[in-house]
Amino acid sequence: MVADFLVIGSGVAGLRAAIGLSGAGRVLILTKGSPAEGSSIYAQGGVAVASEEDDIALHRDDTLRAGKGLCREAAVQVLVEEGPARVQELIGWGACFDKAGEGYAFAREAAHSRDRIMRAGGDATGTEMVRALLAQARSLPQIAWRDHHFTVDLLKDGEGRCSGALVLDESSGAVKPVTARAVVLSTGGAGQIYARTTNPPVATGDGIAMAYRAGATMEDMEFVQFHPTALYLPATPQFLLSEAMRGEGGILRNIKGEAFMGRYHEMAEMAPRDIVSRAIWNEMVATSARHVYLDVTHLDPGFIRERFPTIYATCLRYDVDITEEMIPVCPSAHFMMGGVWTDTHGAASIPGLFAAGEVACAGVHGANRLASNSLLEGLVFGARAAEAAAAYAKGTESLRDGSKAWKAATDAESRSDQLAMEKLLNSLRRLMWAKVGIIRNREGLLSALVQLEKWEERLKGRRQTRRELEIQNMVTVGRLVATAALQREHSLGAHFRSDFPDEFSAGWDRHIQLSASAGGAVRVV
Ligand code: FAD
Ligand code: SIN
Repeated sequence: MVADFLVIGSGVAGLRAAIGLSGAGRVLILTKGSPAEGSSIYAQGGVAVASEEDDIALHRDDTLRAGKGLCREAAVQVLVEEGPARVQELIGWGACFDKAGEGYAFAREAAHSRDRIMRAGGDATGTEMVRALLAQARSLPQIAWRDHHFTVDLLKDGEGRCSGALVLDESSGAVKPVTARAVVLSTGGAGQIYARTTNPPVATGDGIAMAYRAGATMEDMEFVQFHPTALYLPATPQFLLSEAMRGEGGILRNIKGEAFMGRYHEMAEMAPRDIVSRAIWNEMVATSARHVYLDVTHLDPGFIRERFPTIYATCLRYDVDITEEMIPVCPSAHFMMGGVWTDTHGAASIPGLFAAGEVACAGVHGANRLASNSLLEGLVFGARAAEAAAAYAKGTESLRDGSKAWKAATDAESRSDQLAMEKLLNSLRRLMWAKVGIIRNREGLLSALVQLEKWEERLKGRRQTRRELEIQNMVTVGRLVATAALQREHSLGAHFRSDFPDEFSAGWDRHIQLSASAGGAVRVV
């Protein structure tokens, strides 16, 4: 297969990039599984949009404050300035956001100094945004689709430029090269490396791992955001309870029923996410409990049902009527601030490779992402990556690739190994949660790295089924997070070291960049 542009992933970032590229040539979108399955459709709270001129500056300041001095200011400026136009464009393509009277409804989320979160369907913002983007993309004849196509690795030409990808057709098992003049990576995050996560099963960090293997520079990998409130019920899928519930007056209580956030921060429930997550963790430890409660029972039941229809219905399915009972919650891995380093145009360190959305580290989030900034990031940097890839491709052509096609093993063929692989994956998730999670220390990180390296060694040469490839990618991403976390010997934003609790020690403002060394070790750039 040959295309002018390859877009890997069809969440908000990939779809926006593909639409942008469609004016410059033939675009091929590759998605593992079905096209809409990714974090984007699960986004509840909304998208942060500064509604007035003076709010653009405030949105920038809130983003920088949440990022704790590690955002790249130029990238933040781009996000807040271009964001409103990108959302307006989406409305032009048919996205319906909730209204209050004649105008749009704007809500408040943690660490925002104004009400600037636009939402759709109450708590179904991501689904509506993806619906509108999919409809727009499908109307463009220049865009072709291959779903159930898993990207295994990136390809490079003889001059080190990214020239396509090696792709596994999930139905036939055939693995073939697909070449292109430029590649946009938009594969989303890696929450699945943790035992507790809000992320869907596809969030296995494939894009991060394949870019790393190809030699790209990774940045800020130690910064993993833990969302404070995911539903905690044994034998029930982990499900996000939007921050907007606290924005509307929800209160966090420990298992003794005490509201505790006032003891941790002057903004109480509306404090930045990392502070709320650690406060919950402390309360869980102090009360020997596996969860705390989110309490919205004091709010009007009719309002709750209308404002949070998805959350209300989902909890009810698990036998919790949130209008009458407190909801058991626990923090969960939610968002990767770090990823494939890019400039403000989405260009990665490998010529011809661009990245946008959660897989990328464009510098907008720093040490901690401000709520509802990532859907916006997907739109803004998806569009920017498309522009930059189109400009780059003017001087290149799509070459045929000499990589040999091969056939992946089917699930049936590798059945005997499947249980062992799933066991390894469960151990990986538990290890990451316990030693590379909300609270970290040197001893735990070192022992995690020893184990991760052993697993990586064991998995070498076993690149067989899609599942095995995903597990291998998750081990690689785990190793990158643990390596960066070990390097950062202080606590900042989402990265907390119990052995170095101070925020600002010498060199605190350095970004930790990693890349692959020839011998297979992770190199700190
Ligand atoms: P995704 O939407 O995750 O898409 C990734 C795509 O890549 C998918 O199509 C996937 O199949 C594909 N893919 C992955 N690997 C491969 C591979 N190897 N080969 C081929 N295809 C591949 N952010 C906000 O701003 N506001 C919110 O309210 C909000 N709520 C959230 C709620 C939940 C439950 C979650 C999980 C996240 C939330 N976020 C929110 C974060 C936000 O949704 C994500 O960061 C954002 O949607 C990521 O978009 P993306 O396009 O980068 O990736
Ligand atoms: C939420 O609704 O709490 C999630 C918002 C986000 O992750 O930005």
